[in-house]
Formats: sequence, structure tokens, C-alpha cells
Amino acid sequence: MKEKLNIAMITAECVPFAKTGGLADVVGALPQTLRRMGHNVMVVMPRYSSIDGRRYGLRRYWDSFGVWMGNLLEWCAVDVADSDGVPVYFIESNKFFERPGLYHDADFNDYQDNPARFGLLTRAGLQLCRDLGFAPDIVHVHDWQTALAAAYLKIWHWNDPILGRAASLLTIHNNAYQGKYGAGVYDYLGLGWNNFTPDKFEDFGALNFLKGGIVYADMVNTVSPTYADETRTPELGYGLAPYLNDKGDNYVGILNGVDYAQWDPTVDTLIPANYSAADLSGKAICKRELQRRFGLEENPNIPIVGVVSRLVSQKGLDLLAQAIEGIVTNMAVQFVILGSGDKSLEAYYGGLPARYPGLIGCYIGYSNEIAHWIEAGSDFFIMPSIYEPCGLNQMYSLKYGTLPIVRATGGLNDTVEQYDEATGAGTGFKFWEPSAAAIYYTVGWAVATYFDRPHHMQQLIQTAMAQDFSWEKSAELYLAAYEQALANKARL
Ligand code: ADP
Ligand code: GLC
Repeated sequence: MKEKLNIAMITAECVPFAKTGGLADVVGALPQTLRRMGHNVMVVMPRYSSIDGRRYGLRRYWDSFGVWMGNLLEWCAVDVADSDGVPVYFIESNKFFERPGLYHDADFNDYQDNPARFGLLTRAGLQLCRDLGFAPDIVHVHDWQTALAAAYLKIWHWNDPILGRAASLLTIHNNAYQGKYGAGVYDYLGLGWNNFTPDKFEDFGALNFLKGGIVYADMVNTVSPTYADETRTPELGYGLAPYLNDKGDNYVGILNGVDYAQWDPTVDTLIPANYSAADLSGKAICKRELQRRFGLEENPNIPIVGVVSRLVSQKGLDLLAQAIEGIVTNMAVQFVILGSGDKSLEAYYGGLPARYPGLIGCYIGYSNEIAHWIEAGSDFFIMPSIYEPCGLNQMYSLKYGTLPIVRATGGLNDTVEQYDEATGAGTGFKFWEPSAAAIYYTVGWAVATYFDRPHHMQQLIQTAMAQDFSWEKSAELYLAAYEQALANKARL
């Protein structure tokens, strides 16, 4: 393979500029890692009005930048910022991105023109490469929002001097969000009606962005080996299993990495005290401060279970809701919960501190600082996900010596090792059944371990903190996927 690859990433989210979930963490860290390994990477994303241009040093790059959508020319502008040596280009469009939310308004109603918005972003990303004279070896796209780049490359740009050699990699961060829309937007996207067929974009009369991306991409991956297997089955394939299976070994699972510059208790600048595996005294301070901040009984000997999550059904928090009151009533344990999303879950969890004073703390909203406090100050961290493509918080938790309690699905299964009561081996507590009872008994198992086998707790914490999910390892696997994509493209 060439020593130095030109890689263009097109994405709807990227840390630190705009984030709703783990996708942003991934795209905020992988390009920097690839750059440090000697590759040439650029990122293209929307200029949402929520991005504070001054804070991140955005500057105007081009005042006018035309993008053809079907037979309509859309006029945009382009800004640029530096993100640790990686140039990030922002597509500015009053029509599409001058709004507060990324995908929906404040009441969680999806913007009706999302297919046009992200269609434009995708075409703009490719057009930008041409106008910059940046000839990518790899165009790396993420989720349904930018999946169509793989198709545009093959349908429109196969003979282009700049884009003609580019191979595509599509990363699926969540197979349940496929971008399924009425075919009304199809002309605007300019994909050619001859391609509106069941083996490409058409999906029971609708248009499916992710499916089109899967079919056209030279290589597809998702974010853990277990989720790659799960999405090949009808249950988690959500209609796409046949297309993923058709990719054969051109569909793989690559675990996300962790940005340890942000998520490591020895260097974390957001938490009350730093600590390491060799000296955990700072963790006790973090626990005390967490109890104080959330009005919990200040007791170093009661275990705290933390939650940081989008409040959506994927995360299994409706199941936790059925178990949590029994847990805090019958066991010596406290909970601290941070999340936002589903309004009824927000109302339920938001109401718990008043009903269980001193036992349950909760903040409804989004706060990176509190997320760090919970990782550092808790003893356990629970993720009862129904499915979880990778999950980042359980990996953060390991580094903070906060033992994960997880349902063994997707990346949770791949990153947490089951505690062995005979030897003390493992890094956390896993259960399989998606039920309130399984949550209840597994939390009970963790709490009993805390009180009855403190020597095992210490061993688990040490093993957990020694786990290494650094981006360098994952980036090597991405480079192998790029290589495979290039070989596939060369064979065409
Ligand atoms: P997903 O992308 O499905 O939400 P991940 O575990 O991959 O799940 O990533 C979630 C990311 O979002 C983590 O970095 C987590 O800390 C963060 N996060 C989620 N909800 C909140 C919140 N309410 N406040 C702060 N950070 C949050
Ligand atoms: C998605 C998944 C999550 C994954 C993240 C980053 O949001 O839900 O499991 O960690 O993408 O890949």
C-alpha cells in the first residue's frame, strides 16, 4: 500500500464542533490518529449554527461554492478550522444548516428536509475535494447521512481526474438509522432513476440511503465484531442483513478506540481529583464530590452505579426503569443518572431524586463535565442496551476503574470480560436477557461483590484500568480496511 494515503472523511458530526453521540467522538479522534501515522486527512461537515466559530477558530475559506443537486445549483460557503493538524471544512448553507439542531428541533421532531440536507452535505464533500485539488485515495463516510458518497463516486465520478481513483469505506455506527425517505427527494439527489431498484436504493417503494451506500461501497464496516455478526441476522439487520451478507468479507467489525487525552483519570482536567491504578485515593475524593453535588448520602462505603446515556429505547433504560426502585429499596446502593432524549424517560428519571432522596441523583440534559464526574466518582457503570454497536462509556469506565455492568450485546460483549467469582478474573458484570429481572440480579451480583469480596473488587479494578482501547490499534485495522477497499476498487 502507498505509504501516505489521502483520506477524505465526510460526516454529520465531529468532536469538538458538533456532537449528539459516539459518532462525533470517533470522527474527532480517528483522523488525528491517522495523521500522526503519516497520512493526509481532511474532514468535511456542516456548519450548524450551534457551532461557535470564534471558539474553534473557524475562518472563511470560500464565499461562494456551488454544488449541483439534480439539475439545481445550490450555493454554499466554506469555512475551515484546524483540529490538531487536521483541516476540517464546514459547508455553510442558510437553507439547510442555519438551525440550532443537528437532526431535529428542540422537541425532537426530525427536520423534514433531512434527506436533502445530508444529500447536499455528501455531494458538497466530494465537490470540495475536486475544487481543492485533493485527490483522495479513500473517501470514508459514516452512517446514512453520508453513505451516498459511495454511490456518487461510482455513478458520477468514476472517470474524474480527481475522484476517479478513490475507493470508499462506509462505517455503520447504528444499523437501525437507515435514512428511509419517500422517493420525492430522489430527483434532487441526482442518482438516476435507472438505479432506483430493489438491489440498490429502492426499499419497499421508499429510498434507503444506507442500503444504497452498502451496495456501492468498496468496503463496509461497523464498530465491533459482535455487532457485525448481529447485523448479519434478521433481528438486528433491520432489513439490511441480506445486503450486508452479500458483502462477504468486505463487511467487518472494527472496535472504536478511546481518546485517552480526554478520558483518563491521570490527566482528566474536568474531575475533582486525578488518580491512577497505583494510587486510587483521588477516586475516593471524586466519589465524595459526586455524592455532594447530587445530594446523596455522603458515605464512602455505599457503592454508586452511574448512568450516562441518550435516553432512547436502544439503551434499555425503560428496562432499568422497571428495576431501579426495587434495587435502591432492597440493596445498599446509590444511583447517579445523566441523560436526555425521550420525554417520558426524562420525566421518569428526573422525578426519582425527589422520591428517593439521598439515594438517586439525576441531571436531565447534556453535560460533558458531569459525564466525566460520573465516570470518575462511581463504583459501577450500567449499560443495559438492547443493542449497542460499540458503546464508548463502558470503555471509559474501565479506564476510570468503574466496573461496567452490561448486557452482552455488540461492542459491550467485545470490551467487557465477565467476572469469574472463582478467580477474581474479568473486568465487569455481564447479563444476556433483556429484562428488568436480569438487570436487578446483575446489579445485585455487583453489589454483593463490592461488600463480600473486596479483594476481588480490587483485582477487577486493576484489570479494568489496565485495558487498552487506544485509537492506534483501531486505526491499524482501519488502514487494513482501506487497503482492502483499494484492492476491491482496482479490480473493478
Ligand atoms: P451513542 O453514540 O449510541 O449515544 P456511545 O456510547 O458510543 O453511544 O457514545 C455516547 C457518547 O455521548 C459518550 O461520549 C457519552 O459520554 C456521551 N453522552 C451521552 N449522553 C450524554 C449526556 N447526557 N451528557 C454528556 N455526555 C453524554
Ligand atoms: C453509535 C452507537 C454506539 C457507538 C457509536 C460510535 O451511536 O449507538 O454504540 O459507540 O455510534 O461508533
